[in-house]
Parts: sequence; C-alpha cells; structure tokens
Amino acid sequence: MDERILSENCLPEEQKAEASLRPRFLRDFVGQKQIKENLEVFIRAALKRGEALDHVLLYGPPGLGKTTLAHIIAHELGVRLHPTSGPALERPGDVAAILTNLEPHDVLFIDEIHRLPRTVEEVLYPALEDFCLDVVIGKGPGAKSLRIDLPPFTLIGATTRAGLVSLPLRDRFGIIFRLDYYPREELYEIVTRAASVLGIQLEPEGAWEIAGRARGTPRIATRLLRRIRDFAEVAGAKKVTRELVKSALERLEVDEAGLDKVDRILLSTVIEKFQGGPVGLDTLAAAAREEPETIEDVYEPYLLQIGYLQRTPRGRVATPSAYAHLGIPYPGEKKSSVVQQRIPFPEGEQE
Ligand SMILES: Nc1ncnc2c1ncn2[C@@H]1O[C@H](COP(=O)(O)OP(=O)(O)OP(=O)(O)O)[C@@H](O)[C@H]1O
Ligand SMILES: [Mg+2]
Repeated sequence: MDERILSENCLPEEQKAEASLRPRFLRDFVGQKQIKENLEVFIRAALKRGEALDHVLLYGPPGLGKTTLAHIIAHELGVRLHPTSGPALERPGDVAAILTNLEPHDVLFIDEIHRLPRTVEEVLYPALEDFCLDVVIGKGPGAKSLRIDLPPFTLIGATTRAGLVSLPLRDRFGIIFRLDYYPREELYEIVTRAASVLGIQLEPEGAWEIAGRARGTPRIATRLLRRIRDFAEVAGAKKVTRELVKSALERLEVDEAGLDKVDRILLSTVIEKFQGGPVGLDTLAAAAREEPETIEDVYEPYLLQIGYLQRTPRGRVATPSAYAHLGIPYPGEKKSSVVQQRIPFPEGEQE
C-alpha cells in the first residue's frame, strides 16, 4: 500500500472514507467564508427565480474541498449531481449522452476539467450558452446538422490547474472560485468533526497538533487522523492525546511543518544538487525521481505557499527558510538557526 500522506490517487477505501466525511450542507462546510457567502446568495437567487444556477468553476490545490462543494451545491439546489471527469469524456458522443439525460436544473460535475479533449469542449460551448447540442448526422455532402434542445443545467468544473483551462471554456463560467489553504483553526474544526463522525476520542491538543501539520489541507488532516487512529488502536489507547499524535506523525515521517519525506527530498535536492537553484522543473523531477506533474500539482503549491520554494523564470529556488528547516547553513551564513514557527494552542498549549 502506498504509505504516502500526499498520494494523489485515492484508493477505493480511502474514497469511501472521504465520502463519509463530506459535509452535505453549506453551513457544515468549514472555512472559505467568502465563497460560502457568495454561493449562498447565488443559490438562493437561482432557486427564487426558478432557474438553473450559473456554471461554476472551482479551482485550487488538491484536497481543499472542490468535489465536496460541488456535491453541496447540488444538494442545496435540490437536484441530482452527475459526476464525470475530463479524461473520461473521450468523444463528443460521451458528453452528448450525459447532457441529453439530464433533468432540468441538474448539476453536471466535470472533475479535472483541464483534461477535456478539444472536440468535447467544442460540443460543450453551445450546450453551456444556449442549452442546445449541434449534432452532425451522416458524412460528406449528405451530412445534416441537427439541433437538439437540452434542459437548462449547471456545469460545475473542478481543476487543480486553472491555467490549463482554455480561455473560451473559462469564459463560459459565470461563477469562478479559487479555494485557498485553510488556517490551523479551521483544520482543527475539521479534524475535530471528523473524529466525532468516526467515533475517535481525540483530545483537543491532539487535534491542534494534527491541524498544524496538515499543510492547510482538509484531506491531509483527515487522512492523518485515520492513520493516527491505527496507531492508537494497535497501542490499545482509548484516547488520542497530543503525545500519541506526535509519536504517530514521527513514524509517518511528517515533520513539524507538515512536510513529508518527498517534500524534504525535493528541498534538499534543490539545495544540495543544484546549489539552491534555480533549477528547472523537469531537471528537478528527474533528480528527485518524481513526475514533474506530481511535483507541480501536489508538492510544490504548499512549499510555495509557506515560502520554502520560489518559482522564478529560470526555475525553482530554495529560500533561506528551506535551508533553516533542513538545518543546512544558508550560503554566506555562519551557522544554521532552525526557525520554527509555533502557533500556540488557543486555550494555552502545554508542553
Ligand atoms: N471545508 C471543508 N470542511 C470540511 N471537510 C472538508 C472541507 N474541505 C474538504 N473537506 C474534506 O476533505 C476531503 C477532500 O475534499 P475534496 O475531495 O472535496 O477535495 P478536492 O478539492 O475535490 O480534491 P481533488 O483536487 O484531489 O479532487 C473530503 O473528505 C472532505 O470531506
Ligand atoms: Mg475532487
């Protein structure tokens, strides 16, 4: 089994666990205040007018709640969600088949929408704008074009790579939201709620510790929680204390900043093999034995966010904070000082 905390692809059992933790109502969705407030207005307005909600594009790093929000939107609208993904829609006929089977105001959810084939995208344009499909029947001079009306529907697209969504497609979304990393307080709330759903006795200090190492990502917070539960069960512990969390995370090789082994390999590769950079993505990927896409989608965004890595036109550069985190002296500095950001537990953290 892949023991990585950051694996991109969920195992089926993991998907099941995630689905059980998904909040169903907007009010249970923690954080992303601005998005929630706006969505609530748009949903209410659409319901009041008796119209389909405008098309929604959700983008942001993996595990921040795009799929969850899509389900919540459909649920709040009281309609069905039809899930599919960019790579699954290979031919125009695939999307036509789904579109013609929608009920009025239903939600079509296309995950990884940046991977939609061009030909499929072109079928979508009139569907999104005028709720109709242009179908060509036959071939050559005898070919006829037929227009099929569709029920009004809402497309929700999700992507980790908004930059790869073509401009004409992006323009057809009336609502575009970017999901951001969650602060520790919100992850604390998420992990506490997940523990109660899963029937885990998690002490507040333990939850705060997990929240601080979850890389701003709800998926990682709940994934860490499930792994820690395994350690607790094997140890015969009834309660998950801060000490238990710390020792479990140590065994999972998740450090104080929430970085895992691969993060540290990436940073130390930039520092040790490329003198701190700049180094191009492909070169870095080859040296660290990772896929460039995985680095770009999964690892790098958080390292950029916490300021350990920088993207420059000439490549990736490790910052002084990255050196400090790994305990490597920054060039020109005499000795390293490990700077660790510590945010206290709200009710007074005990060491
Ligand atoms: N704001 C939130 N409140 C509570 N739980 C959340 C929140 N955001 C995400 N989660 C939980 O985190 C997990 C991952 O969320 P989700 O699958 O929606 O992420 P995603 O953005 O679609 O990721 P990907 O890009 O990999 O598809 C789910 O189990 C979900 O319940
Ligand atoms: Mg998703």
